[in-house]
Amino acid sequence: MCGIMGCIGSVNSIPQVIEGLSKLEYRGYDSAGIAIIKDDSVIINKKEGRLQKLCDTLSEELYANIAIGHTRWATHGLPNDCNAHPHTDCSGKIALVHNGIIENHAALRKGLQAEGHIFLSETDTEVISHLVEKYYTDSIEAAVRKALPFLEGSFALAILCAGEPDKIIAAKKDSPLIVGLGERENYIASDIPAILGRTNKVYILEDNEFAVLSKDSAVITDFGGKPVEKEIFNVTWDPVAAEKGGFDHFMLKEIFEQPEAIRKTLSGRINNGKVDFSELGFDEIFKKAGKIYIVACGTAYHAGVVGRVAIEKLAEIPVETDVASEFRYRKILWRPDDFMIVISQSGETADTVSALKEAKQRGIKVLAITNVVGSTVAREADKVIYTNAGPEIAVASTKAYLTQLTVMYLLAVYMADLRRSYDPLKLKGIVGDLFYMDASIEMVLKENEHIKSVARKYKEVESTFFLGRGLDFAVALEGALKLKEISYIHAEAYAAGELKHGPLALITKGVPVLVLITQDKLVDKTMSNVKEVKARGAVVVAVCKENLKDACNECDEQVLLPRMNPVLTPLVSVVPLQLFAYYMAVFRGTDVDKPRNLAKSVTVE
Ligand code: AGP
Repeated sequence: MCGIMGCIGSVNSIPQVIEGLSKLEYRGYDSAGIAIIKDDSVIINKKEGRLQKLCDTLSEELYANIAIGHTRWATHGLPNDCNAHPHTDCSGKIALVHNGIIENHAALRKGLQAEGHIFLSETDTEVISHLVEKYYTDSIEAAVRKALPFLEGSFALAILCAGEPDKIIAAKKDSPLIVGLGERENYIASDIPAILGRTNKVYILEDNEFAVLSKDSAVITDFGGKPVEKEIFNVTWDPVAAEKGGFDHFMLKEIFEQPEAIRKTLSGRINNGKVDFSELGFDEIFKKAGKIYIVACGTAYHAGVVGRVAIEKLAEIPVETDVASEFRYRKILWRPDDFMIVISQSGETADTVSALKEAKQRGIKVLAITNVVGSTVAREADKVIYTNAGPEIAVASTKAYLTQLTVMYLLAVYMADLRRSYDPLKLKGIVGDLFYMDASIEMVLKENEHIKSVARKYKEVESTFFLGRGLDFAVALEGALKLKEISYIHAEAYAAGELKHGPLALITKGVPVLVLITQDKLVDKTMSNVKEVKARGAVVVAVCKENLKDACNECDEQVLLPRMNPVLTPLVSVVPLQLFAYYMAVFRGTDVDKPRNLAKSVTVE
């Protein structure tokens, strides 16, 4: 979603801000803009479309040691030059960029217009610049502090003012914002990748925190001006990990990074063949658990669906998995021993954060699984397990999903061990299989060219189906999501047995049906569904375990997976589906890493 990058220093800040914005492109956006102060005036350039379009408007001679920039993902108003950030006040002296949504913008706009303020855009953001103008006398810091209490909703703000070229003001509520601490240069950014390679020292701003940045200092207070003691957070992400490293797209790179990612997720969590999560201090909660609610969005939700099956099977705890945006509309009959698991790659997904906060308000313990250290989810939950996948840049999540699955399996095994709910020898076997999972994934990655050739055959289709039973259905959901989000091909996932209750009507000659067949006990049932679709002219691509290949020989194509415990197959069966989606998108010429309309980090509800 929207990205913020600001820089104040002793050399030209414009290249820093442009580079920072380029590192945030992965979040998804539809316009970009920058504000600088030069010769006591604010100069703004903003353009609908890609960042490069903005760069084309910037003269090479342009120089300023203070700049704030933004990539906008439209919410209020069309994606066009006018609605792009930064926005200014009537005088053009105050400029600001904003992430989040000002919920009371309509009322504020009406009041400000009545007072004579002239609005140029349709955005909610523009009310902030006029509100700050209203309170401005001689200090931008004081004016912003006066304006903030009138804002309802979420905001991460970076503001500059023509008369005060030595400072950037920033404020945060319910939208992420970090301060990067450089050498005679400081930064404000919505996300860590923006400052990677410039500094690894950051302050992660909390809600209701306010920052005043100069080239030599970063002073953090609350909105009222009370100093806040901040700890410097050392970012350990390798800047090179956020580069493409020879791959055509981040997505392909991240698919191929999965064996390494899974090794990092497992690292330090298995001792003497046993999973150890004792440091979470959740053992009593795990032992007594009545019910677990797993809440997440999109791909992370799909990881939760697999997690539900694994936990119910191994730890014998009832689990409900919900999409976060729907969770709030349920009347959850929480019982004292219930707890919640939230899963989020970014740790900033607004719907997930809201569900988490709601549970906490009711006194429910929350365990978070996230990839981003210091993210909102990590800070708000009672305890956090990091997936350690490294930066995931492509909008389509791949290695994050796989590492989320890995954590779910580790948790299921750990809880099963504590609760003595599963044969200890079999548990050891599962841990052993997890340990060697990287090698199994590598074997599947060797099928790359084969999967590419399958994708080439079907690249013109308009509609596809993904089928499976049990865990295979959980992975079918993820396979269909991958295909639709990056190739824009209609893709539906169905529980194989459900097809004949309606969607079978959509199966016609030549429609590709991808079937997952990894659950030894369910092969016959799934194969009868395969026969049903084949009888209607579908072409069937099976992703099946090697030992089941004869049983699946009626399928038109087979992608084979190594033999393994059926409970763990999602860790490998998803990989061919990721590659299939990737190549379908490449063949259709879509913007693979930044698909239309989508954002990496969905920070609005
Ligand atoms: C995945 O490919 C999607 N881009 C999307 O569904 C994503 O998983 C979802 O928005 C949740 O994001 P999170 O894990 O950062 O919370």
